[in-house]
Amino acid sequence: MKRKIIAYNFELTETLEKLKNQFEVEIFDSINPSTDPAFIEALKDAEGIVGLALPVNQELLERAPKLKIVSNNSTGYNNLLINEMTKRGVMGTNTPGVLEDTTADAIFGILLASARRITELDYFVKSGNWKGHLTTAEYAIDVHHKTLGIIGMGKIGSAIAKRAHLGFDMNILYHNRNRNLEAEGKYNAAYSDLDTLLKESDFVCLMTPLTQETENFIGKREFELMKKSAIFVNGSRGKTVNEAALIEALKNKEIQGAALDVYQIEPIKMDNPLLQFPNVVTTPHIGSSTYETERKMAELAVENLLAGLTGKRPNNLINPEVLN
Ligand code: DGY
Repeated sequence: MKRKIIAYNFELTETLEKLKNQFEVEIFDSINPSTDPAFIEALKDAEGIVGLALPVNQELLERAPKLKIVSNNSTGYNNLLINEMTKRGVMGTNTPGVLEDTTADAIFGILLASARRITELDYFVKSGNWKGHLTTAEYAIDVHHKTLGIIGMGKIGSAIAKRAHLGFDMNILYHNRNRNLEAEGKYNAAYSDLDTLLKESDFVCLMTPLTQETENFIGKREFELMKKSAIFVNGSRGKTVNEAALIEALKNKEIQGAALDVYQIEPIKMDNPLLQFPNVVTTPHIGSSTYETERKMAELAVENLLAGLTGKRPNNLINPEVLN
């Protein structure tokens, strides 16, 4: 009998072909993993799971006694209860190194769209409101030569800094757990304490991973510190921001606007007040979603899974202590 694997919300399922000789692959898409009976049944025998944003919590781990590896098809792994996985001998892997440029393109794209009001003015044209010369009501704000504050100067933060410095002559401030000397040298990024960054930036771009320390990292106090003309950009995870505080800041015009790729609840609910602001650009967590990059991520995720299931050390092991 073949060993069993689960693929969960794994879009490029043809990438799984090379597993099919050795393993039985059960595919689940858009189900509720804590209630779906077929999924719960599949967990009983599954030795590996590959997929996107599956909440791997205590309940799931208890239902999956044979599980050896969860291969996340993303670089973020806030969906994995890593300590508990390690205790139970379950490896966790992710897909860094292949999506940084693509994600930086998307996040810089929504920054530009917000500053230059591209989505708003696209609607202005399509809805027949472009009737004469543009007035100040349609004017936007410059991006070039402004100050960009990046919170979280990891690989994606650095790729955003590169675009900002080399393409747009921006001044860059950054805040990070550790100094990033490469970004300082290459992109003239200046290390800053959080409050100075918030006060001085024209664009505040949040790129930090979601951890216990970064949950609700940006809230009322932080929005109050930002310039009234600031644009807030979130390319990290929705839970790094207090969404209610963001909504208040927008209502009270404490900031100029926002560009968001991530939300506390995804997909965002249609009654979320964020959807009512014309000065908020919203995209559906598109950071890495290009054909080229999603393929590379899927291949890496499958490689990691295969390594973990065949007694090798996966290249992108998040919890190496599990091997001790
Ligand atoms: C990532 O890789 O973490 C992206 O946000 C896609 O989930």
